[in-house]
Amino acid sequence: MPSYDKSRLLHERACRVLAGGVSSEFRKFNAPHPLFYTHGQGARLTDADGNEFLDFTLSQGPLVLGHSHPEVLEAVAAASRAGQLFAGQHLAELELAELLQRLIPCAELLRFSLSGSEADHAALRLARAVTGRPRFLRFEGHYHGWFDNVSVGVSGGLAELGPREQPTPVRWSAGLPDHIENESLVLPWNDLALVEQLLATRGNEIAAVITEPIMCNNGCVPPEPGFLQGLRDLCTRHGCVLIFDEVITGFRTALGGAQQLFGVTPDLAVFGKAFASGYPISVLAGRREFMRLIAEGKVIHAGTMNSGNPATVAALTTLRILEREQIPSVLREKGEHLREGLADAGRRVGRPLLLQGPGPMFHAGFTPLARVRDYRETLSYDKPLYARFVTGMQERGIRLIGRGLWYVSAAHTSADLDLAIATAHDVLKSL
Ligand SMILES: Cc1ncc(COP(=O)(O)O)c(C=O)c1O
Repeated sequence: MPSYDKSRLLHERACRVLAGGVSSEFRKFNAPHPLFYTHGQGARLTDADGNEFLDFTLSQGPLVLGHSHPEVLEAVAAASRAGQLFAGQHLAELELAELLQRLIPCAELLRFSLSGSEADHAALRLARAVTGRPRFLRFEGHYHGWFDNVSVGVSGGLAELGPREQPTPVRWSAGLPDHIENESLVLPWNDLALVEQLLATRGNEIAAVITEPIMCNNGCVPPEPGFLQGLRDLCTRHGCVLIFDEVITGFRTALGGAQQLFGVTPDLAVFGKAFASGYPISVLAGRREFMRLIAEGKVIHAGTMNSGNPATVAALTTLRILEREQIPSVLREKGEHLREGLADAGRRVGRPLLLQGPGPMFHAGFTPLARVRDYRETLSYDKPLYARFVTGMQERGIRLIGRGLWYVSAAHTSADLDLAIATAHDVLKSL
């Protein structure tokens, strides 16, 4: 059993100054308590007690090249020395935008922000302005950040969710404005007939349909064949803006995101996480005729810290490496190997795991279902059992995200993946 004594003391100290001892809701859930980390290198992370972990969280996704990639660090150090923020333009920002425009199918014009939440917020504001319509359609269990307008429809148990055909918009947080349920209409994912029905009756109120192209945040559920194209066609028919939230799928499933992988081009798309190796930058990309409203200042998008020099250079350097080394296909191969090894380990010890997702990221969990298609079906996952699995893995030096998502980086070697599979085999056997 590893000792977490130093982390425990630091966490107790942190609880006296930080709300809940952390700076993000998602960092609270770690047994026996949140750990403090001192450094990360490649696929490994070390905590304050000196425990080393093989890391499959990638800091919730951004570290697609692994921790502390030397080429990125050098570029960022040089950029930091040259200046941090100019309240003005710089060449790296222009070069990054040109590179993204070349890679992403829908990217005719772009704007940078700091986080995925901000860029999603800008996308929805822009969609309302483009259409003059007040509401948007979102899908149960998809995550589009923590801002007010998307903090409805992301959570909830079966009893709260109500009928599939007319779900109750469940609030994720206290403190949301009164009118918030009127902003978003919610439907289960992967059911085109329901979307068709809703747009036929209320299409003229709906500015946008926003979706993760793979439901990464709950079960890593792939779209049913034809579902994304169906959304594309329905949005075109009813004059709604189609938004792909590619904060997880972007640069990981393909350089041009899931829109390239599935061959379906949205009107607007949001990217974050994987393109800057952990430095804060996100991007809203979209059709010129829509983004024009931002260009003309009719739709306001701003931010003091946007496109800072070090983060921009981190993104530019990361993307050049991703392209040069064809990292999405590397991740796919590694991820498939890991996913199949874990499935096999589960079968061998009589603890079958359902594994879903394309490889660069996938979800693992215990469910009696052979396949999970939407958020309601993800509620069949045995979460307490998976929490025990995660704790057992951590005790043996493998760090996982508690809710079942696994991220694979370019820094994971075949030996790392085989170690994870062998460790999972032992932990599954012990459950
Ligand atoms: C699909 C998706 N959209 C948006 C966000 C929000 O991004 P951020 O945490 O950078 O605000 C996330 C974060 O996990 C995400 O997974």
